[in-house]
Amino acid sequence: MLKAAIIGLGWWGRTIAGLLKGNSKLSLVKCVDLSPAAGQVAAELGTTFTTDFSAAINDPAVQAVILCTPHSQHCEQIVQAANAKKHVFCEKPLSLSRADVLKAVAACNANGVALAVGHEKRFEPPIVELFRMAAAGELGTLLQVEANFSQDKFVSMAADNWRLSEKEAPAGPMTATGVHLLDLSVGLLGPAESVCVRVRQLGSGLKNGDTLGLLVGHRSGGNSLISAILATPFEGRFAVYGSKGWADVRDKAHPEAPQGWVLTVNSRNREKTVREYPPANAVLANLEAFADAAAGRAPYPVPQEQMSANISALEAVFRSARSGNIEIVNNGDRQ
Ligand SMILES: NC(=O)c1ccc[n+]([C@@H]2O[C@H](COP(=O)([O-])OP(=O)(O)OC[C@H]3O[C@@H](n4cnc5c(N)ncnc54)[C@H](O)[C@@H]3O)[C@@H](O)[C@H]2O)c1
Repeated sequence: MLKAAIIGLGWWGRTIAGLLKGNSKLSLVKCVDLSPAAGQVAAELGTTFTTDFSAAINDPAVQAVILCTPHSQHCEQIVQAANAKKHVFCEKPLSLSRADVLKAVAACNANGVALAVGHEKRFEPPIVELFRMAAAGELGTLLQVEANFSQDKFVSMAADNWRLSEKEAPAGPMTATGVHLLDLSVGLLGPAESVCVRVRQLGSGLKNGDTLGLLVGHRSGGNSLISAILATPFEGRFAVYGSKGWADVRDKAHPEAPQGWVLTVNSRNREKTVREYPPANAVLANLEAFADAAAGRAPYPVPQEQMSANISALEAVFRSARSGNIEIVNNGDRQ
C-alpha cells in the first residue's frame, strides 16, 4: 500500500481524493493546501492536514505525493519531493518548459523514485486498444491524428482564477485540454518537429483565449490536427489514420464523470466495426499504475522520453501562440 499526500485540494485534488477512498493500492494519509480552509476537507477525508509542503514531504509517513497545484509550481515541487525520496504523481502539464521537464525527470531518476503524470486518456480502455492496434501494425503506417478535447467548465470561472492566466496557462485551452491530445499524439506519432497554433477569444469572456487550432508536424512525417475549445459543450474525440485503416474514439463525457466510449475501426477490405465501451475510471487506473511503478510491480506505462517530448512540443506551442509563426520544437538535438 502506497501512502500518499495530495498537494492542492482544489477541483482536481478533491476529485482524486474521492477516487482513492477504499483503494487497495494507494491510501491518502495527508492533504496539503495553502488555504487553511481546506483543513475541513482533509478532516472529512480522514487525513492529517498542513499548509506546509516541506513538512509534508519530510514526513516519514508519506511515501508519495500527488501534485494538483498550479502549473508553474510543478517542476520545483517534483524536484523537492524526489529529493526527499518521495514518489511523484504530477498533474498535467508536467512542467511549462523543456528545461524544467528534464530537471524533473532527472531528479526522480537520481533519487530512484517513480514519476507519473495525469494524462488519464492513456488509460481509457478504447485508447489502450487504439495504441495496441497501432503498435501491432494493424493500422499500417501511421499518417495523421485528428483530435478534439473541448468543454465549457471554465466559462463561469472568476477572471482572476490562475487557470485563466497567461503565466500559468499560456495559449488558452492548451494546458487545460490540448496537452492531453498532444501527449497521445506524441505517444503514437513520436516527437514533434514543428508546431503552428492559433488561439483566439471568440465565444466567452476568457481573455486568455477560448478557441485553439494546432497543427503538429511530427519527425515521422505524420501530422496531428488538434482542436481545443473552452467555449462550447463537452466534446472528446481522438482518431488516428493509417495506411491500412483508421480508428476513432468518441468520449461520451468528461473524464471527471466517465460515461463510456465508442470505438470505430475501419480497416481496408474489412467490415467497419463499432464497439461500445462501458464507463471505466481512467483517472484511477492511472493512479494505480503509479502505485505499481512505485512498488516495482510494473514499469509506469508512459515512457519518460514521451513525457519530455510532450513538454518540448508544448513549449513550442507557447512560442507559436505568441509569435503567430510556425515554431521548431527543441528536442535537444539542434546545434
Ligand atoms: N487530469 C485532468 O483531467 C485534470 C483535470 C483538472 C485539473 N487538472 C490539473 O490539476 C491541477 C490543479 O488544477 P485545479 O483545477 O484543481 O486547480 P484549483 O485551483 O482548483 O486547485 C489548486 C489548489 O492548489 C492549492 N495550492 C496552490 N499552491 C499550493 C502549494 N504551493 N501548496 C499546496 N497547495 C497549493 C490552491 O490553494 C488550490 O486549492 C492542474 O495541474 C490542472 O491542470 C487535471
